[in-house]
Amino acid sequence: MDAPPETEPKKPAARRKGATAEEMSDRQREISVSEFFAKNRHLLGFDNPRKALLTAVKEAVDNALDACEEAAILPDIYVELLQRSETRFKVTVRDNGPGIVRKQIENIFGRLLYGSKFHRLKMSRGQQGIGISAAGMYGLMTTGQPVLVISKTSKKKPAVEVLLKMDTSKNRADVVSETEHPEDDGLFSDGHGTQVSIELEGRYQLGRQSVDEYLDQTAIANPHASFTFVNPNNERIEFKRGTSELPPESKEILPHPKGIELGTLIQMIERTARTQIGGFLQEEFSRVSPSVSKEICQRAGITPRTWVTQIGHKEAEAIYKAIQEVRIMAPPTDCLVPIGTKALLSGLLKELKAEFFTACTRPADVYRGNPFLIEVGLAFGGELPKDELIRVIRFANRVPLLYQQSACASFKAVLETSWKNYGISQSRGSLPDGPVVVMVHMASVWVPFTSESKEAIADYDEIRKEMKLALQEVGRKLGIYLRRRQRMRNEGERRSIFERYIGEIAQATEAITGTSAKKIYESLMRVAQKKTEEADAILDDEGKRVKDADPFGRDDSVVILPVRSARAGEDERKSHQEGGGQSKTLFGDEDGTGEAKRSRKKN
Ligand SMILES: Nc1ncnc2c1ncn2[C@@H]1O[C@H](COP(=O)(O)OP(=O)(O)O)[C@@H](O)[C@H]1O
Ligand SMILES: [Mg+2]
Repeated sequence: MDAPPETEPKKPAARRKGATAEEMSDRQREISVSEFFAKNRHLLGFDNPRKALLTAVKEAVDNALDACEEAAILPDIYVELLQRSETRFKVTVRDNGPGIVRKQIENIFGRLLYGSKFHRLKMSRGQQGIGISAAGMYGLMTTGQPVLVISKTSKKKPAVEVLLKMDTSKNRADVVSETEHPEDDGLFSDGHGTQVSIELEGRYQLGRQSVDEYLDQTAIANPHASFTFVNPNNERIEFKRGTSELPPESKEILPHPKGIELGTLIQMIERTARTQIGGFLQEEFSRVSPSVSKEICQRAGITPRTWVTQIGHKEAEAIYKAIQEVRIMAPPTDCLVPIGTKALLSGLLKELKAEFFTACTRPADVYRGNPFLIEVGLAFGGELPKDELIRVIRFANRVPLLYQQSACASFKAVLETSWKNYGISQSRGSLPDGPVVVMVHMASVWVPFTSESKEAIADYDEIRKEMKLALQEVGRKLGIYLRRRQRMRNEGERRSIFERYIGEIAQATEAITGTSAKKIYESLMRVAQKKTEEADAILDDEGKRVKDADPFGRDDSVVILPVRSARAGEDERKSHQEGGGQSKTLFGDEDGTGEAKRSRKKN
């Protein structure tokens, strides 16, 4: 047996030789944003091949729509997915926008955090300046292939074609090649536009959260745009526009003083070109009039004439405090461009086969000094799936949000609405049941996304409250419609029961009175028909009132009634076009056919 090991006397543990501050200093260096996001691509929506394909399309299409709208051009957008192999695709997106000047091409497509929208408070789809360059970077990382950009800025100038790669260590682009693009290949029939092609690792799969779903929903929220989509099976899917009216231009606004934090205020004071504090307050913020500026200064113990250079930390803090105390008008809201109930309804009608549609746009409100507004559309019944939970489609500045539903303020607002009050069943804590699609749109000069990939709206109290109010409004209209529909059904049933018994009554009467059953039958039938016609006229009138209730005015609802023969048992739906005289204006339909605006054909 071994002797037990001798326990050594306790010695202080030998100190491990660690790095010195100097040695550590050699390893301390700047991280470029593109290196950071290349490692953390999931933050930008490139976490798996299927989502990456969607994100790339989305970033390019969002940019195309933004650019067209800023240039007041009705967007015509072409999206093509070319499958190279099982997991490799070439994504091409082309627009008829203003194009991009040559010297900015490498910045826009080859640098993260470079853009025209970040420093402005203006309603747009992009805001961070990350989108399209991140897609190009992901493509480069996964396939090694550069991004191809073709841009044409006017009829007179030739298109330029630039092939570029991002150098992630510098967050700069390396231009691989640059050529003039042949004039006559007809890429840009309007004489201007941008086309970007990115080769990337992806997966194409239909269904929820697919490129197809994104385009479907984008078409709903952007009825002024037309899209052509060529999918990997080389099928061409057209989304025609529902209206040829461009949405009004969204205006840029200055920050509102109440939405500014102390640190930002100090930085603004340090950087301003104004010399006096009164001018600074009036010129760099919205809603600060000379009298408001004077009041702020007075409370802060300075005057509007005080030199900006004399403002130290103490004074800045006093100004900040004064701003919180002084009454300042809410920020202007004409900077927000709602989709509007008319376009919302036209978008929903165009893409969904339901029987009842309604929409509402709430007045603007403010969170953290940023104006925003909420709109909600609702479609019920018809061919919507009956045994599923209701479907929520979410939008921010007209962009569909397809991921992170449960993290989104809009989803929480739908959950918290008492749908039972409106005739829709709902189990506790879950989405309501039924053939319903609700669409929630938030428009704002700054949408508070929960992450850089812009998938969910952060849960500010003000935002959730507005969403709930909008949902309650469409819910009430749905409730009214459902009750009316039930009344009509009951009435119809009563009449058919009566008609069913006329034969027997006639027989019995003949047996008693000797009058011919045929005669009695015919005369009773005449009475029944007359009554039916009267009732129909009343019901029709009711139906018509729902239908004609100035779909875009007070009521903001549209009902697509089954055709008459449906009462006789045939389940035929009135086509959208027959849904009232307004359908033509509703669809802004050139040919007036009111045909579904989506067509699919094999190339
Ligand atoms: N198709 C396009 N047409 C014109 N300009 C574009 C287009 N795509 C991108 N841009 C410009 O490039 C900038 C950067 O785009 P992006 O990286 O997607 O960031 P963001 O859209 O958030 O600003 C945009 O702000 C816009 O000025
Ligand atoms: Mg963008």
